[in-house]
Amino acid sequence: MPKKGLTVWFTGLSAAGKTTIALAVEKILKDRGIKVERLDGDTVRQSLTKDLGFSKEDRDKNISRVSFVAKLLTRNNVIVLCSFISPYREERNKARETIGSFIEVYVKASVEECSKRDPKGLYKKALAGEIPHFTGVSDPYEEPEHADLICNTLKETEEESVQKVISYLEDNGYIEKSGDDVYSDEEREKVQKRLEDLGYI
Ligand code: ADX
Repeated sequence: MPKKGLTVWFTGLSAAGKTTIALAVEKILKDRGIKVERLDGDTVRQSLTKDLGFSKEDRDKNISRVSFVAKLLTRNNVIVLCSFISPYREERNKARETIGSFIEVYVKASVEECSKRDPKGLYKKALAGEIPHFTGVSDPYEEPEHADLICNTLKETEEESVQKVISYLEDNGYIEKSGDDVYSDEEREKVQKRLEDLGYI
């Protein structure tokens, strides 16, 4: 159980590594028994925001609907991992205001690097002019000015980026530090009783 809810908002170009990092963070949190939910552009756009495209207006609607869901989860003490390009600073700031308990993680990789990775073949198509309004190619991406964390996926390994997020959650009291919980409640009581019996406490 997390001590308090938080939305971790991953922003960055397509193929920067948002989903990869969020998936790995999700696994660690689940393994520690923490309530976590992941909202990701590629899946959310097949359901909640299926009707939307990639104009500025539609991207803003996408982020505003997702923020609404993230707000509900966050106030119920869930750690919410949101991965959306979310290219507009103003909309990300609105998400922060709506959700309240929120950090922005900039998953940073250049257009050159992302188009080299191109896991879905979208950059190739966008560069050939086949996808209009493609972020970083024919549509803007406004870099965060005050990100709470930056994961530079060109310079860091996946593990380093993931650890950055986990450490942030631990250091800021959202989750227990791993190793804090070496004893279960029952074991802790037993140890305490034993120490009392021995006159140590
Ligand atoms: S956002 O801009 O509204 O935040 P979101 O993260 O939900 O975008 O969706 C981005 C995903 O949609 C990309 O990873 C890519 O697979 C796909 N996509 C399709 N068309 C575009 C486009 N024109 N620009 C960016 N991504 C696109």
